[in-house]
Amino acid sequence: MATEPSSGGFHRDVRADFPILAADLDGRPPVYLDNAATTQKPRQVLDAMHAYYCQDNSNVGRSVHTLSMRATDRYEQARERVARFVNASGGNEIVFTKGTTESVNLVAEGFGRELLRAGDEVLISGLEHHSNLLPWRRLCERTGAVLKVAAVDEHGELSAAAFSAQLSDRTRIVAVAHVSNVQGTVTPVGEVIEAAHARGAVVVVDGAQAVAHRAVDVQALDADFYCFSAHKMYGPLGTGVLYGKAGHLARMEALLMGGGMVRRASYDGPLTLAPPPHLMESGTPNIAGAVGLAAAMDYLDDLGVERVAAHDAELTARAAAGLRAQDGVTVFGAQRPEGGIVSFAVDGIHPYDVGNHLNNAGIATRTGVHCAMPFVDSLGVVGTVRASFGVYNTAEEADLLVETVKTAEKGFWSLEHPNDRSLAG
Ligand SMILES: Cc1ncc(COP(=O)(O)O)c(C=O)c1O
Repeated sequence: MATEPSSGGFHRDVRADFPILAADLDGRPPVYLDNAATTQKPRQVLDAMHAYYCQDNSNVGRSVHTLSMRATDRYEQARERVARFVNASGGNEIVFTKGTTESVNLVAEGFGRELLRAGDEVLISGLEHHSNLLPWRRLCERTGAVLKVAAVDEHGELSAAAFSAQLSDRTRIVAVAHVSNVQGTVTPVGEVIEAAHARGAVVVVDGAQAVAHRAVDVQALDADFYCFSAHKMYGPLGTGVLYGKAGHLARMEALLMGGGMVRRASYDGPLTLAPPPHLMESGTPNIAGAVGLAAAMDYLDDLGVERVAAHDAELTARAAAGLRAQDGVTVFGAQRPEGGIVSFAVDGIHPYDVGNHLNNAGIATRTGVHCAMPFVDSLGVVGTVRASFGVYNTAEEADLLVETVKTAEKGFWSLEHPNDRSLAG
Protein backbone atom coordinates (compact mmCIF):
# COMPACT_ATOMS: atom_id res chain seq x y z
CA MET A 1 0.00 0.00 0.00
CA ALA A 2 1.18 3.50 -0.76
CA THR A 3 1.77 5.36 2.47
CA GLU A 4 3.02 8.60 0.97
CA PRO A 5 1.10 11.66 1.99
CA SER A 6 -1.93 12.20 -0.18
CA SER A 7 -3.53 15.60 -0.65
CA GLY A 8 -7.02 14.10 -1.07
CA GLY A 9 -7.86 17.11 -3.22
CA PHE A 10 -7.09 19.53 -0.40
CA HIS A 11 -4.91 22.60 -0.88
CA ARG A 12 -2.48 21.37 1.78
CA ASP A 13 -0.76 18.13 2.75
CA VAL A 14 -3.35 17.07 5.29
CA ARG A 15 -1.58 13.90 6.39
CA ALA A 16 1.47 15.88 7.40
CA ASP A 17 -0.72 17.88 9.79
CA PHE A 18 -1.48 14.82 11.95
CA PRO A 19 1.55 13.70 13.99
CA ILE A 20 -0.02 10.38 14.99
CA LEU A 21 -0.10 9.24 11.37
CA ALA A 22 3.68 8.96 11.61
CA ALA A 23 3.45 6.69 14.68
CA ASP A 24 5.02 3.27 14.46
CA LEU A 25 2.48 0.50 15.13
CA ASP A 26 4.44 -2.74 14.86
CA GLY A 27 6.54 -1.33 12.06
CA ARG A 28 3.85 0.51 10.11
CA PRO A 29 1.84 3.68 10.44
CA PRO A 30 -1.77 3.39 11.56
CA VAL A 31 -4.54 3.03 9.01
CA TYR A 32 -7.06 4.85 11.09
CA LEU A 33 -10.65 4.14 10.08
CA ASP A 34 -12.26 4.74 13.47
CA ASN A 35 -12.99 8.41 13.02
CA ALA A 36 -16.61 8.14 14.11
CA ALA A 37 -15.36 7.09 17.56
CA THR A 38 -12.85 9.91 17.72
CA THR A 39 -10.77 11.67 15.10
CA GLN A 40 -7.05 12.30 15.33
CA LYS A 41 -5.90 15.83 16.09
CA PRO A 42 -3.95 18.07 13.73
CA ARG A 43 -0.86 19.96 14.81
CA GLN A 44 -2.85 23.20 14.51
CA VAL A 45 -5.17 22.09 17.33
CA LEU A 46 -2.33 20.72 19.47
CA ASP A 47 -0.33 23.91 18.93
CA ALA A 48 -3.24 26.15 19.88
CA MET A 49 -3.74 24.23 23.13
CA HIS A 50 -0.02 24.19 23.85
CA ALA A 51 0.18 27.95 23.25
CA TYR A 52 -2.78 28.50 25.54
CA TYR A 53 -1.10 26.63 28.38
CA CYS A 54 2.29 28.23 27.71
CA GLN A 55 1.09 31.83 27.32
CA ASP A 56 -2.41 32.42 28.64
CA ASN A 57 -3.31 29.80 31.21
CA SER A 58 -5.29 30.90 34.23
CA ASN A 59 -8.90 30.60 35.38
CA VAL A 60 -11.72 32.40 33.61
CA GLY A 61 -13.81 35.28 34.91
CA ARG A 62 -12.25 35.08 38.34
CA SER A 63 -9.70 37.86 38.59
CA VAL A 64 -8.45 41.18 37.32
CA HIS A 65 -4.93 39.95 36.64
CA THR A 66 -3.65 39.81 33.10
CA LEU A 67 -3.54 36.04 32.67
CA SER A 68 -7.05 35.59 34.00
CA MET A 69 -8.30 38.24 31.61
CA ARG A 70 -6.45 36.58 28.74
CA ALA A 71 -7.86 33.17 29.59
CA THR A 72 -11.35 34.68 29.77
CA ASP A 73 -10.86 36.33 26.40
CA ARG A 74 -9.64 33.13 24.79
CA TYR A 75 -12.55 31.17 26.22
CA GLU A 76 -15.18 33.68 25.14
CA GLN A 77 -13.56 34.10 21.72
CA ALA A 78 -13.82 30.32 21.32
CA ARG A 79 -17.52 30.54 22.14
CA GLU A 80 -17.99 33.15 19.40
CA ARG A 81 -16.00 30.95 17.00
CA VAL A 82 -18.31 28.03 17.67
CA ALA A 83 -21.34 30.27 17.16
CA ARG A 84 -20.01 31.32 13.75
CA PHE A 85 -19.20 27.71 12.76
CA VAL A 86 -22.78 26.50 13.28
CA ASN A 87 -24.34 29.89 12.46
CA ALA A 88 -25.91 30.48 15.87
CA SER A 89 -27.08 34.02 16.31
CA GLY A 90 -24.42 34.61 18.98
CA GLY A 91 -22.13 33.16 21.61
CA ASN A 92 -24.93 33.49 24.17
CA GLU A 93 -26.50 30.44 22.50
CA ILE A 94 -23.41 28.26 22.95
CA VAL A 95 -22.95 26.26 26.16
CA PHE A 96 -19.67 24.39 26.55
CA THR A 97 -20.09 20.86 27.89
CA LYS A 98 -17.82 17.85 27.97
CA GLY A 99 -19.45 16.25 24.95
CA THR A 100 -22.64 15.29 23.18
CA THR A 101 -23.67 13.00 26.02
CA GLU A 102 -23.57 15.82 28.54
CA SER A 103 -25.31 18.18 26.12
CA VAL A 104 -28.26 15.83 25.61
CA ASN A 105 -28.52 15.11 29.34
CA LEU A 106 -28.46 18.83 30.04
CA VAL A 107 -31.46 19.39 27.76
CA ALA A 108 -33.31 16.37 29.12
CA GLU A 109 -32.88 17.25 32.78
CA GLY A 110 -32.54 21.03 32.59
CA PHE A 111 -35.31 21.65 30.05
CA GLY A 112 -37.41 18.50 29.64
CA ARG A 113 -37.93 17.81 33.33
CA GLU A 114 -39.89 21.01 33.85
CA LEU A 115 -41.71 20.76 30.53
CA LEU A 116 -43.07 17.22 30.60
CA ARG A 117 -46.28 16.09 32.24
CA ALA A 118 -47.59 12.54 32.59
CA GLY A 119 -48.97 11.40 29.25
CA ASP A 120 -46.85 13.78 27.20
CA GLU A 121 -44.71 12.18 24.52
CA VAL A 122 -41.04 12.23 23.61
CA LEU A 123 -40.34 11.02 20.09
CA ILE A 124 -36.96 9.62 19.05
CA SER A 125 -35.90 7.61 16.01
CA GLY A 126 -35.05 3.93 15.79
CA LEU A 127 -31.38 4.59 15.07
CA GLU A 128 -30.29 6.57 18.09
CA HIS A 129 -27.03 6.28 19.99
CA HIS A 130 -27.52 5.41 23.66
CA SER A 131 -26.63 9.04 24.45
CA ASN A 132 -29.73 10.23 22.62
CA LEU A 133 -31.91 7.42 23.91
CA LEU A 134 -31.20 6.75 27.58
CA PRO A 135 -31.56 10.35 28.83
CA TRP A 136 -35.04 10.46 27.24
CA ARG A 137 -35.98 7.03 28.49
CA ARG A 138 -35.11 8.01 32.06
CA LEU A 139 -36.84 11.36 31.74
CA CYS A 140 -40.02 9.62 30.57
CA GLU A 141 -39.82 7.13 33.43
CA ARG A 142 -39.47 9.98 35.92
CA THR A 143 -42.20 12.21 34.53
CA GLY A 144 -44.74 9.66 33.34
CA ALA A 145 -44.25 10.76 29.74
CA VAL A 146 -44.29 8.19 26.95
CA LEU A 147 -41.20 7.39 24.87
CA LYS A 148 -42.14 6.79 21.24
CA VAL A 149 -39.76 5.47 18.61
CA ALA A 150 -40.13 6.19 14.90
CA ALA A 151 -38.98 3.08 13.07
CA VAL A 152 -36.45 3.17 10.26
CA ASP A 153 -37.20 1.32 7.02
CA GLU A 154 -35.57 -1.88 5.78
CA HIS A 155 -32.65 0.14 4.39
CA GLY A 156 -32.06 1.80 7.73
CA GLU A 157 -33.41 5.07 6.39
CA LEU A 158 -35.58 7.35 8.44
CA SER A 159 -38.32 8.85 6.33
CA ALA A 160 -39.74 12.21 7.29
CA ALA A 161 -43.23 10.83 6.62
CA ALA A 162 -42.74 7.85 8.96
CA PHE A 163 -41.40 10.20 11.57
CA SER A 164 -44.24 12.70 11.20
CA ALA A 165 -46.78 9.91 11.49
CA GLN A 166 -45.60 9.38 15.07
CA LEU A 167 -46.11 13.01 16.04
CA SER A 168 -49.19 13.86 18.06
CA ASP A 169 -50.61 16.78 19.99
CA ARG A 170 -48.93 15.30 23.08
CA THR A 171 -45.45 15.32 21.52
CA ARG A 172 -43.41 17.82 23.47
CA ILE A 173 -39.87 16.83 22.55
CA VAL A 174 -38.38 15.23 19.44
CA ALA A 175 -34.81 13.98 19.66
CA VAL A 176 -33.09 12.75 16.53
CA ALA A 177 -29.60 12.11 15.21
CA HIS A 178 -28.49 14.16 12.22
CA VAL A 179 -26.31 11.24 11.09
CA SER A 180 -26.48 7.67 12.40
CA ASN A 181 -23.27 6.55 14.08
CA VAL A 182 -23.94 2.93 13.10
CA GLN A 183 -24.30 3.20 9.35
CA GLY A 184 -23.94 6.86 8.45
CA THR A 185 -27.58 7.36 7.52
CA VAL A 186 -28.30 11.05 7.06
CA THR A 187 -31.71 11.77 8.53
CA PRO A 188 -34.12 14.31 6.98
CA VAL A 189 -33.65 16.51 9.99
CA GLY A 190 -34.92 19.71 8.36
CA GLU A 191 -38.26 18.10 7.50
CA VAL A 192 -38.48 16.47 10.92
CA ILE A 193 -37.98 19.85 12.56
CA GLU A 194 -40.62 21.50 10.40
CA ALA A 195 -43.18 18.79 11.12
CA ALA A 196 -42.38 18.80 14.84
CA HIS A 197 -42.69 22.57 15.07
CA ALA A 198 -46.06 22.41 13.34
CA ARG A 199 -47.21 20.29 16.33
CA GLY A 200 -45.57 22.58 18.85
CA ALA A 201 -42.74 20.19 19.79
CA VAL A 202 -39.16 21.21 20.55
CA VAL A 203 -36.43 19.42 18.57
CA VAL A 204 -33.09 18.29 19.92
CA VAL A 205 -30.61 17.24 17.24
CA ASP A 206 -27.72 14.93 18.03
CA GLY A 207 -25.11 16.24 15.62
CA ALA A 208 -22.17 14.19 16.93
CA GLN A 209 -21.63 12.44 13.59
CA ALA A 210 -22.61 15.34 11.37
CA VAL A 211 -20.33 18.24 12.22
CA ALA A 212 -17.13 16.73 10.80
CA HIS A 213 -18.72 15.87 7.45
CA ARG A 214 -21.09 18.67 6.50
CA ALA A 215 -21.80 22.33 7.03
CA VAL A 216 -24.27 22.76 9.87
CA ASP A 217 -26.44 25.87 10.02
CA VAL A 218 -28.61 25.73 13.12
CA GLN A 219 -30.67 28.74 12.05
CA ALA A 220 -31.38 27.36 8.59
CA LEU A 221 -32.37 24.05 10.20
CA ASP A 222 -34.37 25.91 12.83
CA ALA A 223 -33.08 23.41 15.41
CA ASP A 224 -34.08 24.19 18.98
CA PHE A 225 -31.04 22.43 20.39
CA TYR A 226 -28.03 20.99 18.58
CA CYS A 227 -25.46 18.84 20.40
CA PHE A 228 -21.96 17.81 19.34
CA SER A 229 -18.49 16.78 20.52
CA ALA A 230 -15.17 18.44 19.70
CA HIS A 231 -13.28 15.15 19.63
CA LYS A 232 -15.19 13.83 16.63
CA MET A 233 -14.30 16.89 14.53
CA TYR A 234 -10.49 17.00 14.98
CA GLY A 235 -10.76 18.85 18.28
CA PRO A 236 -9.76 17.74 21.76
CA LEU A 237 -11.36 15.17 24.04
CA GLY A 238 -13.51 16.40 26.91
CA THR A 239 -15.16 19.35 25.17
CA GLY A 240 -18.59 19.51 23.64
CA VAL A 241 -21.27 21.98 22.72
CA LEU A 242 -24.90 22.51 23.41
CA TYR A 243 -26.39 25.03 21.03
CA GLY A 244 -29.78 26.23 22.22
CA LYS A 245 -32.04 29.00 21.00
CA ALA A 246 -31.66 31.86 23.45
CA GLY A 247 -35.33 31.67 24.45
CA HIS A 248 -35.00 27.97 25.34
CA LEU A 249 -31.77 28.41 27.24
CA ALA A 250 -33.42 31.16 29.26
CA ARG A 251 -36.03 28.63 30.46
CA MET A 252 -33.46 26.04 31.49
CA GLU A 253 -32.25 25.06 34.89
CA ALA A 254 -28.61 24.49 35.68
CA LEU A 255 -27.75 20.91 36.62
CA LEU A 256 -24.62 21.84 38.55
CA MET A 257 -24.60 24.52 41.21
CA GLY A 258 -21.33 26.17 42.10
CA GLY A 259 -18.84 28.85 41.25
CA GLY A 260 -18.90 30.85 38.05
CA MET A 261 -22.70 31.01 37.76
CA VAL A 262 -23.44 33.42 40.57
CA ARG A 263 -24.38 37.08 40.64
CA ARG A 264 -25.39 37.14 44.28
CA ALA A 265 -25.26 34.34 46.86
CA SER A 266 -25.99 34.04 50.57
CA TYR A 267 -26.93 31.31 53.07
CA ASP A 268 -30.65 31.90 53.00
CA GLY A 269 -31.22 35.27 51.38
CA PRO A 270 -31.51 36.17 47.73
CA LEU A 271 -29.74 34.02 45.21
CA THR A 272 -29.18 35.62 41.85
CA LEU A 273 -27.66 33.46 39.14
CA ALA A 274 -25.88 34.43 35.93
CA PRO A 275 -27.82 34.10 32.68
CA PRO A 276 -27.03 31.34 30.17
CA PRO A 277 -24.65 30.18 28.92
CA HIS A 278 -22.62 30.74 32.11
CA LEU A 279 -25.55 29.48 34.17
CA MET A 280 -24.90 25.98 32.78
CA GLU A 281 -21.12 26.13 33.13
CA SER A 282 -20.51 26.29 36.85
CA GLY A 283 -17.09 25.13 38.00
CA THR A 284 -13.86 25.74 36.16
CA PRO A 285 -14.49 25.02 32.50
CA ASN A 286 -12.23 23.22 30.06
CA ILE A 287 -10.68 26.40 28.69
CA ALA A 288 -7.96 24.70 26.67
CA GLY A 289 -10.60 22.38 25.23
CA ALA A 290 -12.62 25.35 23.97
CA VAL A 291 -9.47 26.88 22.49
CA GLY A 292 -8.69 23.56 20.77
CA LEU A 293 -12.22 23.27 19.41
CA ALA A 294 -12.00 26.77 17.94
CA ALA A 295 -8.71 25.77 16.28
CA ALA A 296 -10.34 22.62 14.88
CA MET A 297 -13.08 24.75 13.36
CA ASP A 298 -10.46 27.04 11.83
CA TYR A 299 -8.76 23.94 10.46
CA LEU A 300 -11.93 22.56 8.88
CA ASP A 301 -12.83 25.95 7.44
CA ASP A 302 -9.35 26.25 6.00
CA LEU A 303 -9.74 22.88 4.25
CA GLY A 304 -13.24 23.85 3.16
CA VAL A 305 -16.15 22.02 4.73
CA GLU A 306 -17.65 21.24 1.31
CA ARG A 307 -14.35 19.76 0.14
CA VAL A 308 -14.10 17.72 3.35
CA ALA A 309 -17.63 16.42 2.79
CA ALA A 310 -16.82 15.39 -0.79
CA HIS A 311 -13.56 13.71 0.22
CA ASP A 312 -15.10 11.68 3.05
CA ALA A 313 -18.09 10.66 0.93
CA GLU A 314 -15.85 9.55 -1.94
CA LEU A 315 -13.83 7.21 0.27
CA THR A 316 -16.91 5.89 2.02
CA ALA A 317 -18.56 5.10 -1.31
CA ARG A 318 -15.38 3.41 -2.54
CA ALA A 319 -15.13 1.18 0.53
CA ALA A 320 -18.85 0.41 0.50
CA ALA A 321 -18.78 -0.57 -3.19
CA GLY A 322 -15.76 -2.84 -2.66
CA LEU A 323 -17.34 -4.53 0.33
CA ARG A 324 -20.75 -4.93 -1.30
CA ALA A 325 -19.07 -6.70 -4.21
CA GLN A 326 -17.78 -9.44 -1.91
CA ASP A 327 -19.73 -12.66 -1.40
CA GLY A 328 -20.77 -13.10 2.19
CA VAL A 329 -20.42 -9.44 3.10
CA THR A 330 -23.48 -7.42 4.05
CA VAL A 331 -23.18 -3.65 4.03
CA PHE A 332 -25.86 -2.04 6.17
CA GLY A 333 -27.80 1.00 5.13
CA ALA A 334 -28.65 2.49 1.80
CA GLN A 335 -25.81 3.55 -0.46
CA ARG A 336 -25.56 7.12 0.81
CA PRO A 337 -22.01 7.81 1.81
CA GLU A 338 -22.39 11.37 3.13
CA GLY A 339 -22.17 10.23 6.72
CA GLY A 340 -18.57 9.02 6.26
CA ILE A 341 -19.41 5.59 7.69
CA VAL A 342 -19.68 2.09 6.26
CA SER A 343 -20.95 -0.67 8.53
CA PHE A 344 -20.76 -4.29 7.48
CA ALA A 345 -20.87 -7.90 8.61
CA VAL A 346 -19.11 -10.97 7.23
CA ASP A 347 -21.19 -14.16 7.12
CA GLY A 348 -20.25 -16.62 9.84
CA ILE A 349 -17.54 -14.44 11.36
CA HIS A 350 -18.04 -12.44 14.52
CA PRO A 351 -17.35 -8.72 14.06
CA TYR A 352 -14.69 -8.86 16.79
CA ASP A 353 -12.81 -11.48 14.78
CA VAL A 354 -13.04 -9.34 11.66
CA GLY A 355 -11.87 -6.37 13.71
CA ASN A 356 -8.93 -8.36 15.09
CA HIS A 357 -7.98 -9.47 11.61
CA LEU A 358 -8.08 -5.88 10.37
CA ASN A 359 -6.07 -4.76 13.37
CA ASN A 360 -3.43 -7.36 12.57
CA ALA A 361 -3.12 -5.61 9.22
CA GLY A 362 -2.78 -2.26 10.98
CA ILE A 363 -6.33 -1.12 10.27
CA ALA A 364 -8.37 0.43 13.09
CA THR A 365 -12.14 -0.03 12.88
CA ARG A 366 -14.87 -0.17 15.47
CA THR A 367 -16.66 -3.45 16.12
CA GLY A 368 -19.80 -4.30 18.06
CA VAL A 369 -23.03 -2.43 18.64
CA HIS A 370 -21.62 1.09 18.59
CA CYS A 371 -23.55 2.27 21.66
CA ALA A 372 -26.76 1.76 19.70
CA MET A 373 -27.87 -1.68 20.84
CA PRO A 374 -31.58 -1.43 20.02
CA PHE A 375 -30.79 -0.30 16.48
CA VAL A 376 -28.14 -2.98 15.89
CA ASP A 377 -30.54 -5.57 17.33
CA SER A 378 -33.06 -4.45 14.73
CA LEU A 379 -30.52 -5.27 12.02
CA GLY A 380 -30.61 -8.90 13.21
CA VAL A 381 -26.88 -9.20 13.83
CA VAL A 382 -24.71 -9.52 16.91
CA GLY A 383 -22.82 -6.43 15.81
CA THR A 384 -21.14 -4.85 12.83
CA VAL A 385 -17.71 -3.72 11.77
CA ARG A 386 -17.69 0.01 11.22
CA ALA A 387 -15.14 1.82 9.09
CA SER A 388 -15.36 5.59 9.28
CA PHE A 389 -13.42 8.07 7.20
CA GLY A 390 -11.79 11.39 7.85
CA VAL A 391 -9.79 14.05 6.06
CA TYR A 392 -6.45 12.19 6.21
CA ASN A 393 -7.72 8.88 4.85
CA THR A 394 -6.79 7.81 1.35
CA ALA A 395 -8.21 5.70 -1.46
CA GLU A 396 -5.37 3.25 -0.79
CA GLU A 397 -6.58 2.82 2.77
CA ALA A 398 -10.17 2.24 1.62
CA ASP A 399 -8.87 -0.41 -0.81
CA LEU A 400 -6.70 -2.02 1.85
CA LEU A 401 -9.77 -2.37 4.05
CA VAL A 402 -11.68 -4.08 1.25
CA GLU A 403 -8.79 -6.43 0.39
CA THR A 404 -8.11 -7.35 4.00
CA VAL A 405 -11.74 -8.23 4.73
CA LYS A 406 -11.46 -10.86 1.97
CA THR A 407 -9.02 -12.88 4.08
CA ALA A 408 -10.93 -12.69 7.40
CA GLU A 409 -11.57 -16.05 9.05
CA LYS A 410 -13.66 -17.37 11.89
CA GLY A 411 -11.73 -17.01 15.12
CA PHE A 412 -12.25 -16.85 18.86
CA TRP A 413 -15.67 -15.25 19.06
CA SER A 414 -18.78 -17.34 18.68
CA LEU A 415 -21.89 -16.14 16.91
CA GLU A 416 -23.83 -18.72 18.90
CA HIS A 417 -23.65 -16.48 21.96
CA PRO A 418 -25.02 -13.23 20.67
CA ASN A 419 -25.36 -11.82 24.17
CA ASP A 420 -21.64 -11.89 24.73
CA ARG A 421 -21.04 -8.33 23.68
CA SER A 422 -18.51 -7.20 26.21
CA LEU A 423 -17.48 -4.17 24.19
CA ALA A 424 -21.09 -3.15 23.65
CA GLY A 425 -20.90 0.39 24.97
C1 LIG B 1 -24.51 9.84 17.23
C2 LIG B 1 -23.76 9.98 18.51
N1 LIG B 1 -24.36 10.57 19.54
C3 LIG B 1 -23.74 10.75 20.72
C4 LIG B 1 -22.45 10.30 20.92
C5 LIG B 1 -21.79 10.52 22.24
O1 LIG B 1 -20.73 11.40 22.09
P1 LIG B 1 -19.71 11.63 23.29
O2 LIG B 1 -19.23 10.27 23.70
O3 LIG B 1 -18.63 12.47 22.71
O4 LIG B 1 -20.46 12.30 24.38
C6 LIG B 1 -21.79 9.66 19.88
C7 LIG B 1 -20.44 9.10 20.09
O5 LIG B 1 -20.07 8.10 19.53
C8 LIG B 1 -22.45 9.50 18.65
O6 LIG B 1 -21.86 8.89 17.62
